[in-house]
Amino acid sequence: MENPFSLAGKNIIVTGASSGIGRQTAVSCSQMGARVVLIARNTEQLNMTLSMMQSPESHLVYSLDLADLDGMETVIKDIVGKTGKLHGLVNAAGISTTLPLKLISNEKLEEFFKTNVYSAIQMSRLFTKQVNVSTEGGSVIFFSSVMGIVGESGKTLYSLTKGALVSATKSLALEFASKKIRFNAVSPGVVVTPMSQNAVYSKDEESLNRIIALHPLGLGMPVDISNACVYLLSDASRWVTGSNLVIDGGYTAR
Ligand SMILES: NC(=O)c1ccc[n+]([C@@H]2O[C@H](COP(=O)([O-])OP(=O)(O)OC[C@H]3O[C@@H](n4cnc5c(N)ncnc54)[C@H](OP(=O)(O)O)[C@@H]3O)[C@@H](O)[C@H]2O)c1
Repeated sequence: MENPFSLAGKNIIVTGASSGIGRQTAVSCSQMGARVVLIARNTEQLNMTLSMMQSPESHLVYSLDLADLDGMETVIKDIVGKTGKLHGLVNAAGISTTLPLKLISNEKLEEFFKTNVYSAIQMSRLFTKQVNVSTEGGSVIFFSSVMGIVGESGKTLYSLTKGALVSATKSLALEFASKKIRFNAVSPGVVVTPMSQNAVYSKDEESLNRIIALHPLGLGMPVDISNACVYLLSDASRWVTGSNLVIDGGYTAR
């Protein structure tokens, strides 16, 4: 029997592949047979991810600042020239912060929206072009967060960007359903990665324990999220679009 979760024969772009969840997603996709295109800024860390993947020679690495929206079109053209048409896009690149409202300057808003939202929209715009996407359709994943659903003091800026992605998922799912291009969001709770390890709540034991206690199943590991990405990229989820898959160890169950 064919494995419905197999990614064999699929070309998949993973942004944020130099660290944390994006890195693990690239590794998991390679283990499921995909050819993966790894994107982030840090070349050394991207190559580290490559060395962790199955069949490292069959994947591609692009060092790119996703906040530079103009640079992407040439890169996607180059990618498709090398891999052929694309089947999946995982927008895992993102930045986080904890800031009170008085410190959320317009510059900060621009930086966060560029990195977390505009880049994912620009990548999606390019992915969905007829010349770039497989004739069989494709699957796009946006990385939201439980902070796109519920709040936490100081999380306004991050939440703004993550909520925007959940909203975009639904309308894009409807816009592209006839082309068999599916759009879904994943919303993790706190996952152990450099992002969460550098967060203010990880600076002292008391704050960290408070965060851990908010997750009935404890904190997540990158593979808990990458397995969900494999599902959403595979044909096993062919009837799933416009959804927001919450993977949070029970954080939002209360
Ligand atoms: N960890 C959590 O607890 C958690 C919870 C909910 C949601 N999320 C979301 O999950 C996603 C992955 O998070 P993570 O924890 O894996 O974070 P991470 O370890 O900090 O990794 C973030 C990735 O984004 C890339 N990135 C950031 N700015 C970029 C830019 N301007 N251009 C290109 N790449 C850029 C980084 O690469 P370079 O620095 O090499 O460019 C890195 O690969 C994010 O969208 C995050 O918001 C995380």
